[in-house]
Amino acid sequence: MNTYDSIRTLFFSPTGTTKKVAEAIARGIAAPICETAPALVPQTLDLTHAAKPAATLPAGCVTVIAAPVYGGHVAPTAAGRLSGIHGSGGPAVVVVLYGNRAFEHALTELAGLARRQGFEPIAAAAFVGEHSYSTPETPIAAGRPDAEDLVAAEAFGRAVRQKLETGDPAPIDAAQLKDRRAPSLSTLRFLHFVLRYRRQQKRHPVVYLPEGDAERCTQCGRCAAICPVGAIPRGDETRTDPARCIRCCACVKACPVGARTFHTPFAEALSRNFFRRKEPVTLL
Ligand SMILES: Cc1cc2nc3c(=O)[nH]c(=O)nc-3n(C[C@H](O)[C@H](O)[C@H](O)COP(=O)(O)O)c2cc1C
Ligand code: SF4
Ligand code: SF4
Repeated sequence: MNTYDSIRTLFFSPTGTTKKVAEAIARGIAAPICETAPALVPQTLDLTHAAKPAATLPAGCVTVIAAPVYGGHVAPTAAGRLSGIHGSGGPAVVVVLYGNRAFEHALTELAGLARRQGFEPIAAAAFVGEHSYSTPETPIAAGRPDAEDLVAAEAFGRAVRQKLETGDPAPIDAAQLKDRRAPSLSTLRFLHFVLRYRRQQKRHPVVYLPEGDAERCTQCGRCAAICPVGAIPRGDETRTDPARCIRCCACVKACPVGARTFHTPFAEALSRNFFRRKEPVTLL
């Protein structure tokens, strides 16, 4: 019979939605299920800004491992940073955040990554977060996770705790958690858009990159500090290094005066086709 004495919340979260959901799940796990059960206090391991984090977590630690979905996969920077963390065989809850389109392969990938790093996935979930490309003009899951999502995340955490309290939580097969597809017309329309976009890019390649507005910028430095990959030079915050930028939109959302913007044709296509609310899905 295993005993668990600590909880770690491990995440990569440029625009903060993954962090919010991971923390709510950890709160749910930490809540004692009976008066005699010990209360656990979650500790944070934030991979968003650490270039080369390294840690070995003890087997008695329950770890919530959370990452955003980029192009149907685990965000590559998150996967890279996770490779420095080792789990000593301890249980993990793997969670992906996606922008209301689809999570596709991301959850099974994250479960596989966790296993390779020495964790044992015993629960999995896919939650919806405001899409990184969402703007007031092209909203995509704007404001999510909302209060309802966070209640669901905490409830999921409590269910995980109950599973842990059995003393021998069974491993899960994350592939069982299917991506609930958008109504087929939306999916087809979006696919059509992607094919046309790719054809155009072949003929006339365009590099889409966040832009800075020198007139508006007050050089407060917030965007450079929040960028997870150091793509914005301090003192010259209207510039973006195209080789480093992962298009996470953290700088766009953090700029207090709207001096950074990212114009991508995907924003309009996603807003048009994926406006219908999707609910979180979980597996225990
Ligand atoms: C480059 C990129 C690719 C993305 N690809 C997808 C995707 O395939 N499906 C989806 O539903 N959302 C996608 N998103 C949206 C993010 O998964 C979503 O906004 C997530 O909540 C962001 O997490 P964060 O707030 O922790 O940064 C993408 C976002 C970016 C920046
Ligand atoms: S956050 Fe906005 S105002 Fe501040 S330095 Fe960056 S672009 Fe300029
Ligand atoms: S410059 Fe690129 S990588 Fe850095 S915060 Fe902005 S969008 Fe993200």
